[in-house]
Amino acid sequence: MRVIGVTEFSGPEALTVHEVPEPHAGPGEVRIAVKAAAVSPTDTNLVAGLYGTGELPPPHVPGMDAAGVIDEVGEPTPDLDTSRWHVGDEVMAIALPQRGHGGAYAEYLVADADSLARIPAGASLAQASTLPMNGLTAVQALDKLGLEPGQVLAVTGAAGTLGRYVISLAEQRGLTVIAEAADTDRDLVAAAGANHIVARGDDVADKIRTIYPAGVDGLVDAAVQNELALPAVRPGGRLATVRGWSGVPGSDVTVERIMVFDDYHRGDTLDALRRAVEDGVLTLHVADTLPAEQAADAHRRLAQGGTHGRLVLTF
Ligand SMILES: NC(=O)c1ccc[n+]([C@@H]2O[C@H](COP(=O)([O-])OP(=O)(O)OC[C@H]3O[C@@H](n4cnc5c(N)ncnc54)[C@H](OP(=O)(O)O)[C@@H]3O)[C@@H](O)[C@H]2O)c1
Repeated sequence: MRVIGVTEFSGPEALTVHEVPEPHAGPGEVRIAVKAAAVSPTDTNLVAGLYGTGELPPPHVPGMDAAGVIDEVGEPTPDLDTSRWHVGDEVMAIALPQRGHGGAYAEYLVADADSLARIPAGASLAQASTLPMNGLTAVQALDKLGLEPGQVLAVTGAAGTLGRYVISLAEQRGLTVIAEAADTDRDLVAAAGANHIVARGDDVADKIRTIYPAGVDGLVDAAVQNELALPAVRPGGRLATVRGWSGVPGSDVTVERIMVFDDYHRGDTLDALRRAVEDGVLTLHVADTLPAEQAADAHRRLAQGGTHGRLVLTF
């Protein structure tokens, strides 16, 4: 089968087509004929070698989000019930590029039976591919912050895929949301459900404190502003970091590290995200679709910023 991957870590130009043996669904697994794979910042990090080589041999195949059609179903096991999946089901799945079944930039992805969900009714496979990784990340971040209805959440990088999912799910939980976004992205962030919007910049904490002088209860730092964002949070509040930041020694703000890898087996949460789309809570944004062979172009466009939705590779 065709995969898009790298044999040496470098920039986008290292992403090329490779032929590798076709995988098959074993016990507790299904095989997905991938039609769409979303392109995310984490994929560019894998290509750059920032995640190491992992446990799989080269080519190293990026991609944490797949949507496609089940074409093989393995036998059920005591832990992994495959019986609810059928050949022909349209599904979306999270993938782990450097371990297990490998990345999603592949014609076929084998997936554990509890790592996938049906795609939302009315969504295309390209749209559905934007949901698994960042949707699960948004839920994990909100769960770890543990805010109560009426409390205030700030979101940096709010116009991005993760930021917009966080805003919409936070609104559903009854939180008040203050979002940081470029002036050109204000409408996107408002449509996602933000109550307040501050202009993007290194002074993000001051701007948030202008509206909430005592500081916010929690913050999801999707723009990875770290110590620039931290002073926006009140003493005793929490900050969710998506890039493993360790915080500032002696700070009275708790830093929660978000690791979506931990949620690979949360097909139940992914199914709740499907319902959130069908209920109009979440909106799926595809910036553009490109043939998988053009993955290098997609990575260059992502690095330039301002994509306003996810770039999606098609197979
Ligand atoms: N730990 C985990 O498990 C996990 C899981 C999922 C995602 N992540 C991480 O979460 C982050 C967000 O992911 P994403 O998919 O939402 O990315 P994205 O779609 O590219 O969104 C990032 C947003 O932040 C903005 N931004 C970038 N630099 C900024 C800055 N210095 N100040 C203010 N805004 C800035 C971007 O604007 P422009 O478009 O104009 O650049 C964009 O709106 C990424 O770093 C990703 O790797 C981590």
